Amino acid sequence: MAFSIAIDGPAASGKGTIARALADHFGFAHLDTGLLYRAVGARTLNGVDALEAAQTLVAEDLESDELRTPAVAQAASRVATIPEVRSALVDFQRAFARRDGGAVLDGRDIGTVICPDAEVKLFVVADDEVRAQRRFDELVKKGMDVTRQDVLSDIRQRDARDSERAAAPMTAAGDAHVLDTTQMNISQAVEEAIKIVAEIRARR
Ligand code: CDP
Repeated sequence: MAFSIAIDGPAASGKGTIARALADHFGFAHLDTGLLYRAVGARTLNGVDALEAAQTLVAEDLESDELRTPAVAQAASRVATIPEVRSALVDFQRAFARRDGGAVLDGRDIGTVICPDAEVKLFVVADDEVRAQRRFDELVKKGMDVTRQDVLSDIRQRDARDSERAAAPMTAAGDAHVLDTTQMNISQAVEEAIKIVAEIRARR
């Protein structure tokens, strides 16, 4: 049976961690849709046209560690403003969402455009300073040479671009549960998300 969980929210809000934890907990498949845009963005940095990159994306393109850098994140948010690039990635995401056995997708437009009928929608937010600190810690742990200020300005620029673009702007769906994780650690945020999903599943 299909059961889709859509998780959206601004950069480094904890969507990915919550999505992975929900997928583990409920035995669902997980798709980090940001990786699709990051992979397209990374290819444009190597001189490939954005639409061509989106149309010819293959699984191995999603595997490089380089996709996590702020430079690739910026390239991702630039290609993500191009409607044709977004369209090229829609069918794959929708098919993933409706696969048997349940799916969790995290991104910016999952609850609004990709899966407007998702059984559960979460919109995960946190103060930008808190998000920057979390992402900085994560990147430093991966051995990347970044400053907290670089990370904060990457996050602010992408949030502005992602929410102001005309094509599928980042916004909470009307029926999304907004989860503010500013004052929560990751296990509290995951616990809260599991509670929301479990209540909705119990009612079905
Ligand atoms: O992990 P983080 O929240 O920093 O970013 P991400 O989810 O990997 O997404 C990288 C960029 O891809 C975002 O800033 C968006 O511009 C774009 N994106 C999008 O437009 N739509 C999605 N469903 C997912 C990502």
